[in-house]
Amino acid sequence: MDIFLEWVGSTVSMSRREATEVFSEWAEKGKDKGMENGHAASVHAMLELGGIPRSDNYSAVDIGCGNGWVCRLLAQDESCTRVLGVDGSEAMISKARQIDSNGEYKVTKLPEWMPSEKFDFIHSMEFLYYLHDPQSMLKQLHENWLNSGGMLVAGIDHYRENDDSHDWPDALNVHMTTLSIDEWKAAMIEAGFIDVEMHQVAASESFLGTLVMCGKKN
Ligand SMILES: C[S@@+](CC[C@H](N)C(=O)[O-])C[C@H]1O[C@@H](n2cnc3c(N)ncnc32)[C@H](O)[C@@H]1O
Repeated sequence: MDIFLEWVGSTVSMSRREATEVFSEWAEKGKDKGMENGHAASVHAMLELGGIPRSDNYSAVDIGCGNGWVCRLLAQDESCTRVLGVDGSEAMISKARQIDSNGEYKVTKLPEWMPSEKFDFIHSMEFLYYLHDPQSMLKQLHENWLNSGGMLVAGIDHYRENDDSHDWPDALNVHMTTLSIDEWKAAMIEAGFIDVEMHQVAASESFLGTLVMCGKKN
């Protein structure tokens, strides 16, 4: 029986679609705008919490940037000298470039790619749990993407305590890694981040809130 269940489990996970393929379809159908609107309250709260460098000039990257709306928000900050948007969906990035032809956007699947220059601020909304090993992505972000003294702020709506999100992998037929708040916190600390804080923002009667993890690189 155990072997049978293992086989069923591996067959289901083998037939999962790539998240980037699903989100390309969303971009083609114009659903990226609805996602932007749906995430706006959480992202604004994250940017308040997330320790954007307030005074000095800083560089920023948005990982899993979708149509690039957070990049354009950050670019409005006159202290932000460079902002890069990274996403594995061709259609999302092509949309970002149509909206903002001067913006800097890169189509690439993660975790395979890493930047040649590090950043002072990393933002990411609703991306990390699509990875099979988000813990090692956090390590890579700490080691290879962030300058010393830089901050990461990442938000996720799919996490163990948020029961309403448990059927999303089947609904979208996409892999999602389901971790608890304590497991995400441990992953941040294990990755090397200091001053790690966990928050739940934009909660309502029907929503437990976006889980936000913030941390600094020494
Ligand atoms: C839920 S959407 C969020 C988009 C954007 N952050 C927002 O809030 O509107 C997740 C994004 O992550 C991207 N993504 C998922 N897995 C990826 C991977 N392995 N490499 C690069 N991008 C990925 C998808 O293409 C998609 O645009």
